[in-house]
Amino acid sequence: MAKKSAFVVVNFMTDGEKDFNTMVVTPWEVKGEIDYKKLVKKFGTTFLSTKEITQIKEYSGGELHLLLRRGLFFSHRDFDWILQMLKKGEKFVLYTGRGPSGHTHLGHLVPWIFTKWLQDIFNVDLYFQLTDDEKFLFNQKFTFQESQNFAYENAKDILAVGFNPEKTHFIFDSQLTKTMYQIAVEVAKRVTFSTAKAVFGFVNESNIGMIFYPSIQAMPCFLPSVLQGKNVPVLIPAAIDQDPYWRITRDVAPKLGYYKPAAIHCKFFPGLAEGGKMSASEPDSCIFTTDDPNKAKKKIMRAFTGGRATIEEQKKLGGQPEICNIYWYEYYLFEPDDKKIEKMRSDCLAGKLLCGTCKKRLGEKVKQFLADHQSRREKITKEMIDEKIIKT
Ligand code: TRP
Repeated sequence: MAKKSAFVVVNFMTDGEKDFNTMVVTPWEVKGEIDYKKLVKKFGTTFLSTKEITQIKEYSGGELHLLLRRGLFFSHRDFDWILQMLKKGEKFVLYTGRGPSGHTHLGHLVPWIFTKWLQDIFNVDLYFQLTDDEKFLFNQKFTFQESQNFAYENAKDILAVGFNPEKTHFIFDSQLTKTMYQIAVEVAKRVTFSTAKAVFGFVNESNIGMIFYPSIQAMPCFLPSVLQGKNVPVLIPAAIDQDPYWRITRDVAPKLGYYKPAAIHCKFFPGLAEGGKMSASEPDSCIFTTDDPNKAKKKIMRAFTGGRATIEEQKKLGGQPEICNIYWYEYYLFEPDDKKIEKMRSDCLAGKLLCGTCKKRLGEKVKQFLADHQSRREKITKEMIDEKIIKT
């Protein structure tokens, strides 16, 4: 990631005090071993409970998306309220976004796939923000034109995920209009520099565009209310590193007379290298949607696994699925069958399964997934994207 943020949201010793553990989670930097329990506590969010999960089933015909059932989406703010409002007849809208800093990888698609599921089961509108301004402001290397180009490239992937074309609207920050600018300015007036410093870690060297930017990311939380002329509940599916934005937006909301936005958070999707999340700055650690499917399979064949040094050791000691990225890809995305995933885990632990077999199996699935995604992506034109950009 571009900007070097000196800001550490979470920096602590683990319970034992001896085992020094530093995790950094900000909207611009995610690093170290992530302890989600501590993150939820620190951010002040709430774990999803069976109560909300059971309620979703009422709308989805008893089914639960794998990403929810297996816990990649794990935390929320006011998701229970969203469901209550729905019961009372007040429909919510979805809001999510993407900072166009490069090509889309599989890790980016994960929350979008889940967002599509929510859009389908609740039959609601989706506002999708492409923050080409953010990536330009926070990244010294980028020209504004480059991040604008990536916004269009990423939008192709977004539409290829299969959102309802009638109910999906883009906000391209570089094409901001009167209504949107006015909302951003109303937000900006109510966030002090000292709050922004405390929440985002801005320093004297931060450029003033960065300091204004959070009001732009807050704006879509209120845009639906302005467009519809009445208060509209908003639900944001996103990775938990975006939560600082929602915290300040929720503080401002009552001052402006709007509902506070609700959020449903996911964990970070693992990369192919040891530990960490999928990161575009390490091309071999991620599968890009534009990768040739055979090349993607090769990346998987070289991925980090929980395997032992030799076949003999593997057979004797068994593998370590809990640290194996191949296993987590199957678990969260590619193997919905509970019996099959459990067999994969127990066979691995028992030393009955070798890494080559698992890599090949996943490699084939990813190859197919990419081929399907790319055939949808190819059909998306600039006109189809432009048509969905909000222009009021
Ligand atoms: N800041 C996000 C990023 O860098 C982009 C973004 C804007 C976003 N609005 C959002 C992400 C809403 C999730 C939800 O990727």
